[in-house]
Amino acid sequence: MIIVCNSVEDAGWLSMRQALWPEGTQAEHIEEMMVLLADSKRYGQFIALDKHSEPAGFIEAALRYDYVNGTETSPVAFIEGIYVKPNCRSQGFARQLVDAVVRWARAQGCVELASDTQLENVVSQDVHKALGFVETERVVYFRKCL
Ligand SMILES: CC(C)(COP(=O)(O)OP(=O)(O)OC[C@H]1O[C@@H](n2cnc3c(N)ncnc32)[C@H](O)[C@@H]1OP(=O)(O)O)[C@@H](O)C(=O)NCCC(=O)NCCS
Repeated sequence: MIIVCNSVEDAGWLSMRQALWPEGTQAEHIEEMMVLLADSKRYGQFIALDKHSEPAGFIEAALRYDYVNGTETSPVAFIEGIYVKPNCRSQGFARQLVDAVVRWARAQGCVELASDTQLENVVSQDVHKALGFVETERVVYFRKCL
């Protein structure tokens, strides 16, 4: 079952976020979650529950108005993060979560859903392809201190 995140206290959202993005402090996560919750037209976030109604995974998506590599329209919906607990993987939770984002994105008027993942995250790349995404570009980021 998929539920919409309505509160920072929603089942497992914070702990799964911390598992996916461990570099953030709890306070930083909560601050970000409150920003997402405050603008439901721009941000969509969902939790997958297992058959015992325990949290199995989450997904966060946003409308991006700046240029998104490989897309042709604006805004596009973008998957900012997707995570399924290790013991819940390969049971279709990511598919359910992406389907929920597709419905949300269509409701916002989007005709493209984009995403990215790290070059070394081959599992994520394979999952994206299995879920109907096509690879568009590979990029390398640079930085110069000023
Ligand atoms: C990527 C991730 C979200 C996939 O979640 P999941 O619930 O296991 O995925 P699903 O069970 O819904 O599988 C979706 C599709 O991908 C395929 N798939 C799942 N795991 C796979 C794997 N390890 N290798 C190849 N394909 C895989 C499935 O076969 C399925 O396709 P199908 O329905 O045609 O059989 C999960 O592995 C994860 O949380 N990884 C760590 C976080 C991460 O890397 N997130 C992505 C970057 S932000």
